[in-house]
Amino acid sequence: MDVVESIDALRQARARITASVGLVTTMGALHAGHIALVEQARTENDAVIATIFVNPTQFAQNEDLSKYPRDISRDLDMLRQAGVDLVFTPTAEQIYPTGFQTWIEVEQVTQGLEGERRPGHFRGVTTVVAKLFNLTQPHRAYFGQKDAQQAAVIKRMVRDLNMPLAIRVCPTVHEADGLAMSSRNVYLSPEQRKAAAVIRRSLLAASAAYEKGERDTNNLRVVIESLLKSEPLAQIDYISIADAGTLKNIKGSSDKPVLVSLVVKMGNTRLLDNMLLPASLNTIEELTQILGGA
Ligand code: PAF
Repeated sequence: MDVVESIDALRQARARITASVGLVTTMGALHAGHIALVEQARTENDAVIATIFVNPTQFAQNEDLSKYPRDISRDLDMLRQAGVDLVFTPTAEQIYPTGFQTWIEVEQVTQGLEGERRPGHFRGVTTVVAKLFNLTQPHRAYFGQKDAQQAAVIKRMVRDLNMPLAIRVCPTVHEADGLAMSSRNVYLSPEQRKAAAVIRRSLLAASAAYEKGERDTNNLRVVIESLLKSEPLAQIDYISIADAGTLKNIKGSSDKPVLVSLVVKMGNTRLLDNMLLPASLNTIEELTQILGGA
């Protein structure tokens, strides 16, 4: 596995790869969710490139940029074991040199959910992801369902800017008790970690109600809210029940696929998870097609 830090070295290493390339972009602190993306990339491409870059422009002033978990040697071991061919680990100066002033903004699908709570977040994400696409020139790039809005925003950017690659959205990987894998889970105390399983239980309860025929989003919200409120350590940030294509909140009911997104705070840590309903829609093809629309 080649590990390169500079843009020149990346371009040289990329030029040596003539076969198809799958890309997994990460901010490091890797977990089984990232490795699942690498494994999928391996099955669909001849070579896999991973990037590790804690992107400062997607963090607001009050967020956790300085304490974001970093363990580059463990990350590289994991990527090596997963069969990655090339890893790009740039510095912030390489990505945002002095004088940098070009940004990519996706307008509508960034409006609600995370975009509303984290102003400027998606502008940072799309700009860095576009740069990483330009630098690594992948045929396919892999993103996790946990950050469903991010996947929808990146899909939109790729379509709108005619970027020559396919986006693939892969199912979220969960811990045994249902907590969605996230680099930020390390912030949780043992009590918070245990309590966090309520997030998945709430999504599963909403799915069970949906399976029984419940389509009214107010009623689905009540199912979720009552479970979340039964856990004293969990503070609801938001519960969104949205059209999976537009990510706009649904008032009343809808027969189209629905994205239920939850953000729950445990202390200062925001935990995200979501589920597409009907829950049978969970293959890579379905997630890729439905989230953010075709
Ligand atoms: O999902 C992430 O880890 C980041 O938002 C990404 C896509 C690597 C961009 O910095």
